[in-house]
Amino acid sequence: RDAAAVTIEEDKSLPTAERTKIFKLRDFIGKRVKVYGWCHTVRRQATLAFLILRDGTGFVQAILSGRLTQTLNAINLKDESTVCVYGTIVEDERAAHMGIELQADYWELMGESPGLPINQDANVDTQLDERHLVHRGQKASAHMKVRSIVTQCFRDHFFSKHYHEVCPPTLVQTQVEGGSTLFQLKFFDEDAFLTQSSQLYLETMLPSLGDVFCIAQSYRAEKSLTQRHLAEYTHIEAERAFIDFEDLLQTVEELIADVTQRVFDKCGDLIRLCNPEADKILEVVTKNRPFKRMTYAECIKFCNEHNIYKDPKTEEHFKHGDDITDAPERQMLQIIGVPVLMIKFPLEMKAFYAKKCADDLELTETVDVLVPGVGEIIGSSMRVDNYQELLEGFEREGIDPKSYYWYIDQRKFGTTSHGGYGLGLERYLMWLLKLPSVKQACLYPRLMYRCKP
Ligand code: 4AD
Repeated sequence: RDAAAVTIEEDKSLPTAERTKIFKLRDFIGKRVKVYGWCHTVRRQATLAFLILRDGTGFVQAILSGRLTQTLNAINLKDESTVCVYGTIVEDERAAHMGIELQADYWELMGESPGLPINQDANVDTQLDERHLVHRGQKASAHMKVRSIVTQCFRDHFFSKHYHEVCPPTLVQTQVEGGSTLFQLKFFDEDAFLTQSSQLYLETMLPSLGDVFCIAQSYRAEKSLTQRHLAEYTHIEAERAFIDFEDLLQTVEELIADVTQRVFDKCGDLIRLCNPEADKILEVVTKNRPFKRMTYAECIKFCNEHNIYKDPKTEEHFKHGDDITDAPERQMLQIIGVPVLMIKFPLEMKAFYAKKCADDLELTETVDVLVPGVGEIIGSSMRVDNYQELLEGFEREGIDPKSYYWYIDQRKFGTTSHGGYGLGLERYLMWLLKLPSVKQACLYPRLMYRCKP
């Protein structure tokens, strides 16, 4: 038969088809529906065509038969075309998606597609170039769904504890985490930066709103390509007033335990699909409390006792004041096997705002939360709350305090002991979903040499 000659029309004598999203289709068993979606896959067998439809809320198999498979559009139909399928929902326990199928009685092509020119085996660079298409895959879209739910769970956590959310600017004229990772730009005639952290702005809101949080983009001109460094990342930051160091440690621990529990409650199955070992994470953060605590000095000792080197090539050992970087940090966590609160970093390693320990002025009330497979996911500290000490901090770091007048004012107008933290959302996801890197947790990763798509 000449395919071009076959045309199809909707049978108007059938009951009106109700338009619905895929996730709701089980409510329509035996009823006629109309479903818009992308053809995740198209498979043909004799006079049948099997379309796995995808609309972001789920997947369902639509079955076309007879004349519906003989139009030119049907013959040319390829993966990723958009269609609208009309038909009846039938229950079939063998069906892979939701135990139902859509028996089509009519369909329309909305947008054709040549198929998907990318597969999961493509090399990392190609996958990043084609990330806009990779997102259509089941794995990548699962990662983004979990990311969306995780973000919601962080918000739920904060609101349940009466924090207020704020949206600080990301174009700034002050640094937070040292000059070496600042992106500089021209803001009209003035010099400005992309923010490294919203911490300082959060601190200014404590007297106004009490405990506050934000979920904002932070930027780091990281000149290294590691599995956990991005040039732009989503930074979940919070600040609390009238707390001490012990409160802060419990706050970060509670954050991880509570958010992880919430995420599993909302989408445990999806997480297990991405990471079959995910239940171990839930167990360790909810049952192994309090989290293991190690001082910075103990971590240095641990590395040196376990042949974890500062430089594996020269087998150089760590000494006090050295940064335990990416690889050795992960080696350490692999041996320890559970999250660690690494506390009390030397003053010389920390920014101007870090508060000194009362019993040792060379150390600070700081904590990094480290997890297996990733290393640091949270950086946190109590903040200097004394005016004079803050000015000394700026001096120590060689920072001109002039542009920090609004920050310094917090120490003049009713100062208080306070502290907070920043968590990298992509690093949390890398851990939860056991991703090979933070790139897979990111919509469109920004890395050294990559600012597209
Ligand atoms: O340890 P950091 O630099 O701490 C701060 O920025 C503090 N001012 C936060 C605060 O106290 N409000 O960064 C905090 C977290 C890290 O633990 C890490 O999870 C993430 O931000 N992070 C990055 N994530 C991806 N790519 C990068 N280049 C990152 N740099 C930091």
